[in-house]
Amino acid sequence: KKSQAWSALFSEPMSDLVKRYTSSVFFDKRLWQADITGSLAHAEMLAAQGIISADDHASIQKGMAQIWGEIESGAFEWKLDLEDVHLNIEARLTQLVGDAGKRLHTGRSRNDQVATDVRLWLRSEIDLIGELLVDLQKSLVDVAEANAEVILPGFTHLQVAQPVSFGHHMLAYVEMFSRDAERFSEVRRRTNRLPLGSAALAGTSYPLDRERVAKTLAMDGVCQNSLDAVSDRDFAIEFTSAASLTMVHISRMSEELIIWMSQNFGFIKIADRFTTGSSIMPQKKNPDVPELARGKTGRVVGHLMGLITLMKGQPLAYNKDNQEDKEPLFDTVDTLKDTLRIFSEMIGGQVNAATGKKEGGISVNAEAMERAALKGYATATDLADYLVKKGLPFRDAHETVAHAVKAAQSHACDLSELPLEVLQGFHASIEKDVYECLSLRGSLNARNILGGTAPAQVRAQVARHRSRLD
Ligand code: ARG
Repeated sequence: KKSQAWSALFSEPMSDLVKRYTSSVFFDKRLWQADITGSLAHAEMLAAQGIISADDHASIQKGMAQIWGEIESGAFEWKLDLEDVHLNIEARLTQLVGDAGKRLHTGRSRNDQVATDVRLWLRSEIDLIGELLVDLQKSLVDVAEANAEVILPGFTHLQVAQPVSFGHHMLAYVEMFSRDAERFSEVRRRTNRLPLGSAALAGTSYPLDRERVAKTLAMDGVCQNSLDAVSDRDFAIEFTSAASLTMVHISRMSEELIIWMSQNFGFIKIADRFTTGSSIMPQKKNPDVPELARGKTGRVVGHLMGLITLMKGQPLAYNKDNQEDKEPLFDTVDTLKDTLRIFSEMIGGQVNAATGKKEGGISVNAEAMERAALKGYATATDLADYLVKKGLPFRDAHETVAHAVKAAQSHACDLSELPLEVLQGFHASIEKDVYECLSLRGSLNARNILGGTAPAQVRAQVARHRSRLD
């Protein structure tokens, strides 16, 4: 009695261990919708080409509709013996509609079938990820707008560098996520090509209409080489690479949120529902969500390494190695989607049904940020620029200001707190108007250049992003 779809040739059954080792149904069953959708498009074309009868086509449609319902309701019985999602569904179809079910696989192999399924599945996940990236960007833009005037110490080397608008800082992440979204839509274009018609590796002798199937499945075209179509998973690698970059951006933001939340900074708070307490230290509120996001970034980058390594030694065409593409791909999608959802809410808050307004996003302590910005001589560059405007070469101005900073340090005060006579001791051209440029706000407003941190620029960028995202 045969227990596998291909087993007439085999003189002994598979051992249970080998069965478990080689089967993929317990993870690839998640492709069921793509599998049925792909099969229905294939069957429709087979009928249109006269390769199967209209009756067989009708039976396949009817059987697949029932299977769809069974899987949705949880009544479908997945069998390890049937190896993967494709054979499970096909076997059930044959059980339901007999020979018509057996005819479905005409001109098709699991090799082009699985490549099609993964592409269809990934395409719709990319669309969802695109929406989530828009949500996250909108959350960041809201926070940016509300905090355009808030002064944050901008860091380089994590040393106070120059004052920046907190809104400007948020918009830096919007730029990153908008490039991520662009990358995903490019990956979508290359993912959305049809392998069906490539059969096992060489194409097929049946007069299939591949373009028709591609159209039915809303794909952007057919794969042009059968060997390539069944064997490469570069689209999955590209996707995971784009996902890794997105997670790296999330991870950098997480790192900043964690630092900003620490008592020594106290710049922001995130809502309690994104934090946890400690079992021993009663005072603790830990930023678990950003920490986990930072940690899960390693996991996604690991999947990228896994997938790209999976590909490197494979001769053309299909090899079973490729079955190993699924778990890293699925986990990448799950991790990324959850992370994007949680970050949109953590940053921007959630809509209160009663008021229709968002609430519970990050809260900003503008005073703490400003106090911190006053600590590191953040306007030293502005003093140098002031001297340049008075005619000093920049390098000389730089040196002069270094002396002024040293003096301020020894008085334990800010540059703006040095009396005019003291400042004039560093250079005679310094006048009373110097204090404007020594203030944090003066420094901020002065950077009124495209891409700069002046609140006017931040508001212009907010408007640009809004019209782009709506
Ligand atoms: N489960 C397999 C995979 O994920 C389907 C293709 C198997 N093809 C084959 N000839 N064994 O790649």
